[in-house]
Amino acid sequence: MRILGIETSCDETGVCLIDASGAGPEDFRYSLLGNALYSQVAIHAPYGGVFPNLAKREHALNLVPLLTQALEQAGTLAPYGERAGVRGSDLGRSDILEILSREPELFEQLAVFLDAYEKPDIDAIAVTHGPGLEPALWVGVNFARALALAWNVPLVAVNHMEGHIMLSAAEGDHMAACEFPMLSLLISGGHTELVLSRTWQEYELIGQTRDDAAGEAFDKVARLLDLPYPGGPEISRLAAEARKYGDTISISSPITLPRPMMHDDTFDFSFSGLKTAVRRMVEELSPLSDEQKLAFAREFEDAVADVLVHKTLKAIEAHGARTIVVGGGVSANTYIKARLAEAIEQGNIGATLLVPPPELATDNALMIAVAGYFHAIQHEYADPAALRANGNLRLA
Ligand code: KG4
Ligand code: ZN
Repeated sequence: MRILGIETSCDETGVCLIDASGAGPEDFRYSLLGNALYSQVAIHAPYGGVFPNLAKREHALNLVPLLTQALEQAGTLAPYGERAGVRGSDLGRSDILEILSREPELFEQLAVFLDAYEKPDIDAIAVTHGPGLEPALWVGVNFARALALAWNVPLVAVNHMEGHIMLSAAEGDHMAACEFPMLSLLISGGHTELVLSRTWQEYELIGQTRDDAAGEAFDKVARLLDLPYPGGPEISRLAAEARKYGDTISISSPITLPRPMMHDDTFDFSFSGLKTAVRRMVEELSPLSDEQKLAFAREFEDAVADVLVHKTLKAIEAHGARTIVVGGGVSANTYIKARLAEAIEQGNIGATLLVPPPELATDNALMIAVAGYFHAIQHEYADPAALRANGNLRLA
């Protein structure tokens, strides 16, 4: 089954085409035929965070070029007349205009595209319908609805967080041998969650952040330290440098940050207090020396890692989890991954830790196509006339 994946929930615009097979996760296999990803990071950097309406505009401008690129890479982009196939625009769906009425530029580009090319060889379209930034989500959802109608192919609505879980649980072209219960630690710019699965595609939210997400905390603290957006990789780089110096960094006063909610009896998190603590100390010490910035980065990353590792271990023990999946942008963090691996090994827990390769940790369309496949084989299709974006969509 050939699935087109579309992702626009935040600041990455992604379109990919996979060819997948298997009756379920056990015998699942896929190959990536085409993959086009456009990161808006540079565009949002001056704002120090993602600016939703700008993200929406950028998605709208880039979806057709990315679709073209992904299909071309997959060798399934045929100019009309070349293969005597049907032309998208010949299916004559006037509702496409209505669906894209709020994205006139996207409509224009799509109309030209559908006129120029034959319907590609695809079996379903999978799109993120939440959670995320609603204006950004809507562009992808409307684009996918229009394509599904134009090409008359089924549409699959995918939860972005399920996408992170499924791709993190994949190993190369198949799923890792996962034993259940499986515990997913989802750490991204918008979410920090512990999700328990007793079997594939079943989710119970057992813990979540009560305020800022882990990635959001990285981004906000980076801003306080005058580091560029996105803050995660920057802080991580400085923290690694600070660790090379050991304790020899000379700062006037040692920097100690709190470990919020680390020892309470829930699986919930809280990161906004960390940011507030950093703000207060930065105000006091300002202007910061380079060494002080290194020390802040290290202590902040340590604090986040301590809390994430402690709570995850507690959840593993409480629920007897056999497989631990880490997903979301922050799972690109080398230090946090290493700390988790070390804790699981030292704790003699015997659970398997699965983390995505760094290039698949942040948002992409592959995770949506893969998660979408499992819904498609169960014929869990969405109605293209009715599918809506939902910024607060829940997994469980
Ligand atoms: O999953 P993602 O790409 O988008 C959301 O769904 O939010 O995650 C983006 C987040 C950003 O907050 C970014 O700072 C963080 O992931 N991030 C990192 C690292 N790489 C990305 N945080 C810590 N360390 C990293 N190496
Ligand atoms: Zn994400």
